[in-house]
Amino acid sequence: MPSKVPVLCLDGPSGSGKGTVGQICAQRLGWQYLDSGAIYRSLAFSLRQAGIDAADINSAAQQAAQLQVACLPGPDGSAKIMVNGVDTGQDLRTEEIGELASKLASEPRIRDAVLAAQRRARRPPGLVADGRDMGTTVFPDATLKIFLTAAPQVRAERRYKQLKLKGFDVNLAHLFEVIQDRDARDAQRSASPLVPADDAVTLDTSDLEINEVVSRVLDLLQPRLVHERAGRTSITSASSGGDSRDR
Ligand code: C5P
Repeated sequence: MPSKVPVLCLDGPSGSGKGTVGQICAQRLGWQYLDSGAIYRSLAFSLRQAGIDAADINSAAQQAAQLQVACLPGPDGSAKIMVNGVDTGQDLRTEEIGELASKLASEPRIRDAVLAAQRRARRPPGLVADGRDMGTTVFPDATLKIFLTAAPQVRAERRYKQLKLKGFDVNLAHLFEVIQDRDARDAQRSASPLVPADDAVTLDTSDLEINEVVSRVLDLLQPRLVHERAGRTSITSASSGGDSRDR
């Protein structure tokens, strides 16, 4: 029986900390990292580059199916995103691209087109996946599902700081509004909406430092990994004729 590759899912709205926490966790664990939002952002970006109207869902879905996205986590939480072998730099990070990504992401055919690519990221020794529907749709059998939240003002301030650090000219009040709109669209769409999975652990990060969130997530993950490995060992020894009963 092929062994199941463990997955840690981190879902939540923008600015909840999932990207930064996800990258640090991936680095500490030595696991693969999937920034699923970067796939939708890459699609938005590549459609714009190719002059394709995002309302042309046939062309957009075709483009989505051909995207090759690789995410290399960074120590400071700023992952390098390679699309079809090319480093996208900061091009994907604008709120304008986030908005277009969110509109594309509400279309079920686009979501179907990127599902297989997301699942292919599940490679040994494990995967940390961040997004909106990692726990509900993409990896329903994940080892641990975390839903990160934070107060809207805190999330807007975090995004503001991130974008400023990247050199973007942003306005906090405007950012607050566009993030609220984007989160409302993501939560209300019918295809894989932004909701916690039934078996997710919700963590409010409003008053927590990044390292505190990382520690809590890894503390929750460790016993589940032990449990999952123990389950595999007993299945393997049972199928090879061994006695797997607890003694
Ligand atoms: O996480 P990020 O802000 O990069 O995501 C951009 C947009 O991509 C989100 O607002 C959401 O609409 C979409 N998205 C999604 N499902 C995911 C990840 C992102 O619908 N798993």
